[in-house]
Amino acid sequence: MSYVELAGITRSVVLPDGSDLHILRGVDLTVDAGERVSIVGRSGTGKSTLLNIIGMLDKPNSGSYTINGRDAVRLGEGRRARLRGDTFGFVFQQFNIFAARTALENVEVPLLYSMGTMFWRRRELCAEMLERVGLGDRLDSYPGQMSGGEQQRIAIARALVRQPKVILADEPTGALDPNTGSVIMELLETVAQENNAALITITHDLNVAARADRVMQLGEGRLHLLSDVSSLLHFSGGAAETSDGVLPGPPPAPVVDRGPGQGAGADEGGAASPDGQGQGPAAPSGRVAITPPKTGPHEGAADDPHTTVPRSSGRANHGGAQ
Ligand SMILES: Nc1ncnc2c1ncn2[C@@H]1O[C@H](COP(=O)(O)OP(=O)(O)OP(=O)(O)O)[C@@H](O)[C@H]1O
Ligand SMILES: [Mg+2]
Repeated sequence: MSYVELAGITRSVVLPDGSDLHILRGVDLTVDAGERVSIVGRSGTGKSTLLNIIGMLDKPNSGSYTINGRDAVRLGEGRRARLRGDTFGFVFQQFNIFAARTALENVEVPLLYSMGTMFWRRRELCAEMLERVGLGDRLDSYPGQMSGGEQQRIAIARALVRQPKVILADEPTGALDPNTGSVIMELLETVAQENNAALITITHDLNVAARADRVMQLGEGRLHLLSDVSSLLHFSGGAAETSDGVLPGPPPAPVVDRGPGQGAGADEGGAASPDGQGQGPAAPSGRVAITPPKTGPHEGAADDPHTTVPRSSGRANHGGAQ
């Protein structure tokens, strides 16, 4: 049994004209504890939608999903929230950090829901994690005073601070220059390794994708194993982007049905991922030296369900706090 097991996952949404948009059409995915999986695919193929389902922020229309053997779809909402918080650390495509909180206060939010030592030592743990992402001297800065790449690193520190069992990273290096991006990927990998956590990374960057044990491509609503990433790297001259011309495979657009349709998770306020609109503000982030990752885990486990809901783009309502 794998830690994360999805089989036959489908997800559709109803468009304003009443037609169905079939985003996921039967996704199968298994990820073991400690395994690193990358998901690539053209823009709009449903990667963030899938990540939101894996992270229990959204429900599939059909298919099965278990986490460590537990049915992640049919749990009641309270248990779902607890399992989500105990399992996942999210790095969202659009950061989703609080503008009115300092870097330290943003990273602290998931720990406000933790227990015991982790709760009492939260400031120290957050400062340590911010140090690890190279922001040790910016604890009291507000996001508005920081570059896009620095904000991304706050989001990464927040995702890691509770030692999740599964780290879900949606374009974690999208706002970072290549050097900072590779240091951040090393940090994600190191923290995952420390906790024997699975690391699932969505990326448009083949060099980032190639770091994983397995690279999957999402296309036509399904996941396919990309067995030969190195040849793609060679083909693209080692360049980073999986621009639409680089990745082979099916055309990206989810299929729209013109008939009457149905969406899933409306009762949960759980429509599909709203963050297909690209990255947050990109800015060179090489200005701050990043400290090499330290080893040695600290206490606690998991991420906070109350802070892990993506900001709505207006297309979907996740019903979460932000
Ligand atoms: N709630 C929604 N209502 C309507 N359409 C939606 C909704 N959520 C997602 N979509 C659409 O579903 C498709 C998949 O979106 P998603 O954000 O998962 O793509 P993505 O692969 O993450 O793209 P990108 O690489 O640009 O981030 C897109 O065409 C998007 O417009
Ligand atoms: Mg996306």
